[in-house]
Order: sequence, then structure tokens, then C-alpha cells
Amino acid sequence: MTNTLQLEALPEVLQRRRQKLAQIFSAPVMIGSGQAPARNFPANTYPFRANSHFLYFAGKPLVNAVIHLCQGKIALFWDEPTPEDALWHGPVPSRDDIARDIGADTAFPLTQLADHYHEAAFLPSQYHLFPDLNSAAFDKASNQKLAEALVQLRLTHDDHGLEQIQAAAQVSMAAHRAGMMATPTASTEAEVRAAMEQVILAAQMACAYNSIVTVHGEVLHNEQYHHSLKPQDLLLADVGAEAPTGWASDITRTWPVSGRFDVSQRAIYEIVLAARDAAIAAAKPGVEYKALHLLASETLTAGLADLGILRGNPQTLVEQDVHALFFPHGVGHLLGLDVHDMEDLGDLAGYAPGRSRSDRFGLAFLRLDRPLQKNMVVTIEPGFYQVPGILEPARASGDYDEFVNWERLEEFSTVRGIRIEDDVLITSGGCQVLTQELPSAPDAIEELVLTGQK
Ligand code: GLY
Ligand code: MN
Ligand code: MN
Repeated sequence: MTNTLQLEALPEVLQRRRQKLAQIFSAPVMIGSGQAPARNFPANTYPFRANSHFLYFAGKPLVNAVIHLCQGKIALFWDEPTPEDALWHGPVPSRDDIARDIGADTAFPLTQLADHYHEAAFLPSQYHLFPDLNSAAFDKASNQKLAEALVQLRLTHDDHGLEQIQAAAQVSMAAHRAGMMATPTASTEAEVRAAMEQVILAAQMACAYNSIVTVHGEVLHNEQYHHSLKPQDLLLADVGAEAPTGWASDITRTWPVSGRFDVSQRAIYEIVLAARDAAIAAAKPGVEYKALHLLASETLTAGLADLGILRGNPQTLVEQDVHALFFPHGVGHLLGLDVHDMEDLGDLAGYAPGRSRSDRFGLAFLRLDRPLQKNMVVTIEPGFYQVPGILEPARASGDYDEFVNWERLEEFSTVRGIRIEDDVLITSGGCQVLTQELPSAPDAIEELVLTGQK
């Protein structure tokens, strides 16, 4: 893996993307790479991550660079490092070398950028990168059309993008195995997180988002790692690697700290697994992603009814948003150069034209509402959570007494949060689970955790 890891996109891949943009958007475009934010003083920065649209067309994580795209041609604007920069950061290729690597037709210092402002379209999220720009120069309608064109291009992935997502997914799967095997000898969440991120760093990758490694899985994006691990706990790990080219992966597994699910943990785990399997089995081109969300919700609800936690017909329970008491988020999202791909454009990528977010409790956090297309990559990530902030007021209100057997639910108190998340490529006839090799069946999970016992 490490030896064959492609650190940058090939110029011909980038050129093909730029030509495709030219076919659907004729005006000139400017996209900036951005800069690393300072940690209190400029010489000490947070890690730099280039803008994803920039990476899509320029392929290299250049700091403070701008590309000008027009009719398939690309001009690079970037200031060469000074000799003093080289003293601190080592030698850097010249502007012309970089221009050649990315297939740029021309290359200029940043001072010449302003000559091109008046004619170009920008992404609204990038206005701040061009502070000396006269705001009168913005053609807002053209900027919106640019955002729509980028969505059209980036909704589905080319072979290079898919290879990179797969490379990132391979490393994420290794990280999850390492996390499971580190658990028996770890005493805190932080130690398991370290074991997982060690695999990602050693593979010359970065985390695609802040890792979630927690015994409090009911906090959906928990970023604290100080809790000690107790034998009765479930540990939820949502950890994903990002390739050096910027392409992301996103995996969640939940495992028992002791290496053995207790009876109630296993019962709920199997329901979440069934929801994941039902959604994946239905994923193919033309199917509405929202239908997968509803299918996962109904499967979950049916399982909870079988256990005696819910009462009623699963479809009706979902129509009344009862599932959202335990599954309060959407079943997943687009995956690409960002973990929630193109969310910098709000819901423009996630929601098909003419659609917008529902304010229904059971649909409000659905990030993707489009028909699936070949070569899209999406996550499928159902979960079950006991969130006190949701369940306590729901119980106190009495509004759900018809549907929820609260006494029965109390028997499942060792289940705070379970999520199972996989990365799924839509193919012409169905889908391919890119993260399939990572075990998710409860027996296999137990075996992996127990393998780590000394
Ligand atoms: N890792 C964040 C998410 O699953 O959406
Ligand atoms: Mn996700
Ligand atoms: Mn995730």
C-alpha cells in the first residue's frame, strides 16, 4: 500500500476534469487553495488542508495558490518561496516546475491575479480569499452557476477519485482492526484512538475528520477521549483516513470493550446491522437515497418492535417519526474529496434541484436527497442511540406512551450508542461496499477484539 500510494493526481486526470468543466461552464473561474490558520501566532499554524475544488482541478495541496480556469486551460497564480522560507521549510519546487506537474498552461505571481478578477466566477465560500476585490465585480448569478457546475462534475467520481477513496478506505479498515485489537489492553478511549490514528499516520495519510472514539456513542460527534473503558461498555469508533490527494473515507464500528456483547447489546446491534444491510441491498442507480433512509428506519423500527421496545406498524411508526427517538440523524451522505462531500456549498450537492430539507424530526438531518447514480460514493450509517436530551423529555411528555414501552427500554440501559457505517460505491447494476472487508458481524467483531488479549 505505502509503496504504491499515489501522492498526486496525474496531469492527464486533472486535464480531463478541466475540460469537462469547460463543457458545462464557459465563463472563466478562479479557485483558491487557502492558507493554514494560525495557532495564536503566524509561524505556528494548524495543519494545512487545501480547498477541495482546488484539489479537484489542480491536484496539489499548494498553500495560498489560485487557479484560473478558462475553456479547459489553466493558469497558476502562486508566489515562489523566498530563500528564508527554504531555510525553515526546505527547498520547494519553482513555480514553473509546479505548473508543469499540474499541466498548467501559464504561471504568474499572485500580484497579477487582480488583472483577471473582473471576468471570473468565484465560489461564494471563497470571497474572503480575494479581499481586495471590488465587490461590484461579482456576478452572483454566474457564481451560483459555477457552484452548480461543480456539483454536476463532482457528484460522481472518475477512476482516479475512486482509486483514492479505496486507498483511504483500506487504511481506515486497518485502523479499525488495530482499534479493536488494542481495546483489551487499553484503559482509556484516548489509547484506542492513538492505536487507530497511528495506522493512518504511518500510512502517510491524515484523518478525514476528527476521530470519534467513545464509550458515549449517544453523543453523535463526541470528540472527547478521556473516559476510562469499563468491561460493560460498548466503544463506538468513527474514524476515517484521507489520502494525500485529499480523497476521504468514513467508517464506524461499535464493539464491546470486554470482547463479548451482552444479550441486550447484541440484540440491538443486530437490529442496526439489519438496517444497514437492508439499505445497502436496495442501493442502485435510480433509487432515491431518501428511500434508503426510510428503509433503514423501518428496519430498525421493526426490530425494536420485535424486541418489545416499540409498539405498532413499522411504516406507521416511521411516518410518525418515532424511529427518530433512537435514530435522530440521516442514514448518510456523499463521500468524495470531503467526508460530507461538497457541504461547503450547503445543500446544493446533497439536495436535487427543487428539493429542500424537511423540518420533520425524522428527516431534518438527512444530508442527501437525490436519486443514486453510477459512480457516486455514499455512506450508509444507521444507528441506535439513547440520547437523554431526546428520550427524557419524550417520556415526560407522555406523547410517545402509545408507541414506546419505556419499562422494556430500561432493560437495554447498557446500550448508549451503536452506529455501523460503510462506504458504498454505486455501480451500474447495484453497489459495491468499499469497506466490506472490515468485519461487522457480531461474532467476527468479538473475535477481533479478543485477538488483542494478552
Ligand atoms: N464521520 C462523520 C460522519 O459519519 O458523518
Ligand atoms: Mn459519515
Ligand atoms: Mn463517520
